[in-house]
Amino acid sequence: MADFSRILLLFWAICLAERAQGSLFGIVEPFPKNIYPLEYTSAQVTCVAFDSQGLKVPSKIQFMRRDEYNFYVKLEANDNLSFENKTEIINGNNTKLSVTLFIRNVTVEDDSLFGQLGSYECHAFAVGDVNERARHGFSVSVITRKEIPIVVVPDTSILQHNDDITLVCNLTERGSLSTPLKRISWFKDGKPLESVRNPDPQNSQDTLGPLKLKSVSVRDGGNYTCLLEVLLRNVKAYNVSDHTMIHIAPWLPKPKEDIEEKAFKGGDVSFECAARGFPLEVEWKVKRKDQAVQSCINGSSGHYKIQRDSVYDPYFFTISDVQYTDRGSYYCCLPSNCSDNIDDNCQRFILRVRDPLGALWPVIGILIEAIVLFLIIFIAEKRKKNKEKGKMAEWNSATAPPMTGTGDKCACAKWVKLQLPRRACSRHVCSSCLSQFMLSTTALAY
Ligand SMILES: *[C@@H]1O[C@H](CO)[C@@H](O)[C@H](O)[C@H]1NC(C)=O
Ligand SMILES: *[C@@H]1O[C@H](CO)[C@@H](O)[C@H](O)[C@H]1NC(C)=O
Ligand SMILES: *[C@@H]1O[C@H](CO)[C@@H](O)[C@H](O)[C@H]1NC(C)=O
Ligand SMILES: *[C@@H]1O[C@H](CO)[C@@H](O)[C@H](O)[C@H]1NC(C)=O
Ligand SMILES: *[C@@H]1O[C@H](CO)[C@@H](O)[C@H](O)[C@H]1NC(C)=O
Ligand SMILES: *[C@@H]1O[C@H](CO)[C@@H](O)[C@H](O)[C@H]1NC(C)=O
Ligand SMILES: *[C@@H]1O[C@H](CO)[C@@H](O)[C@H](O)[C@H]1NC(C)=O
Ligand SMILES: *[C@@H]1O[C@H](CO)[C@@H](O)[C@H](O)[C@H]1NC(C)=O
Ligand SMILES: *[C@@H]1O[C@H](CO)[C@@H](O)[C@H](O)[C@H]1NC(C)=O
Repeated sequence: MADFSRILLLFWAICLAERAQGSLFGIVEPFPKNIYPLEYTSAQVTCVAFDSQGLKVPSKIQFMRRDEYNFYVKLEANDNLSFENKTEIINGNNTKLSVTLFIRNVTVEDDSLFGQLGSYECHAFAVGDVNERARHGFSVSVITRKEIPIVVVPDTSILQHNDDITLVCNLTERGSLSTPLKRISWFKDGKPLESVRNPDPQNSQDTLGPLKLKSVSVRDGGNYTCLLEVLLRNVKAYNVSDHTMIHIAPWLPKPKEDIEEKAFKGGDVSFECAARGFPLEVEWKVKRKDQAVQSCINGSSGHYKIQRDSVYDPYFFTISDVQYTDRGSYYCCLPSNCSDNIDDNCQRFILRVRDPLGALWPVIGILIEAIVLFLIIFIAEKRKKNKEKGKMAEWNSATAPPMTGTGDKCACAKWVKLQLPRRACSRHVCSSCLSQFMLSTTALAY
């Protein structure tokens, strides 16, 4: 026993000597913070032990609580508490130990002041030590729910377009009177609309007014949030908010009007749905000739595509690579649970599909006919010419009778109608007459 106490004494002396020597082992930065967790949320605190001289190696850090009678309790991992250790080697062989305490669900029992177990300390031990070498305190101040103000934005029913509405932000609970209100604001879909700094709920001039929307349109639909920024216990910035969604009932401005769309085979065609509303859903249906209505067609096949630029914009239904089988009636309808009803709340598009060469066929026909006629006449002409070659040879400029009439037309008309001797026309006149004649006969054929 005496040996034991002697060893203990010796050990103690060594410890003291080392302390006197000025070992720099201790709890170092970042120091454990005083935290202000909200009741029923999680919280964490980290302590770091290190010896900058590298003389002592940290072995463990314990989290302790000390009550008003200076009675210490060591915190152990359990359902509500856990620890995480991290060691880091600095400059080759100098160890830094960080231990984090996690409180899973903070209650008033965890408060330094109001919890039975009292205030918090981290105790850091070095390798070979029995007693801790350094300690550092921190506080846990639990903010109860009662201290937090509450704002309420009443729910709105679904509006019709052109309705008026007034949104109010009601501070239903002030929370702790010592909690400063820093700012209260209206937001629409995350974008600020108006705000009041340091509002005074007692003074209607000095608080956030109601939001008045007159004759609402689709673009007024959306998420309206009232946000109150407070400073709990004068240290912890905290936001409380409530929101309401403005819905504008969908409607079809001109449901009875049919729209005819013409498309060429192989091309694309788009229908713009006239339905409006917020949020807007539509159903697309198709009725092909002699077939049943196909409801709720969607973009999954790739042949059809349903698009819109934004939640406020109209829907477009696009058919790519249009085929003759796509002919029929397409309907954009207000939601009907995919029923096959196309008579109510639907807008109709009629799709006609044409051959892209369709417009060219008459022209091509005329051209082919003209060429064939030309060839027939040309060949007939050539044969006649060959027969008459003997006769023609007899004639020369001196024996040829004078031309009757003047100009191509005159000579031509006579040649055609009166079968005047060919010698009356020069070769040039004849060929231009021939093409004129041909065109006039082709035109007659139509
Ligand atoms: C935290 O504890 C409270 C009361 O003990 C309980 O009502 C709440 O559900 C708990 N929350 C979580 C996240 O466990
Ligand atoms: C952290 O270290 C302590 C001793 O310092 C040990 O009891 C505990 O199990 C360790 N925890 C983890 C998660 O490693
Ligand atoms: C964990 O906290 C709950 C209250 O939130 C308490 O009833 C329970 O006893 C605690 N568990 C332990 C192991 O401390
Ligand atoms: C750390 O390493 C240095 C040289 O790299 C050595 O001088 C020193 O003694 C070592 N310290 C410890 C505690 O091992
Ligand atoms: C605000 O809330 C209080 C309490 O719920 C209620 O009496 C009051 O009528 C509300 N004020 C407005 C403008 O909605
Ligand atoms: C509306 O906005 C609030 C906060 O800005 C958000 O919490 C909420 O989820 C939003 N609601 C919808 C339906 O987008
Ligand atoms: C509170 O809301 C304001 C405005 O959106 C934002 O700038 C701030 O970071 C929020 N504060 C907290 C603690 O969430
Ligand atoms: C699209 O329609 C097909 C059949 O009409 C259906 O099987 C599929 O689930 C639909 N896809 C979506 C995303 O609605
Ligand atoms: C669609 O069906 C749901 C549930 O089956 C119903 O609540 C809703 O009113 C229906 N909508 C329409 C437009 O028929």
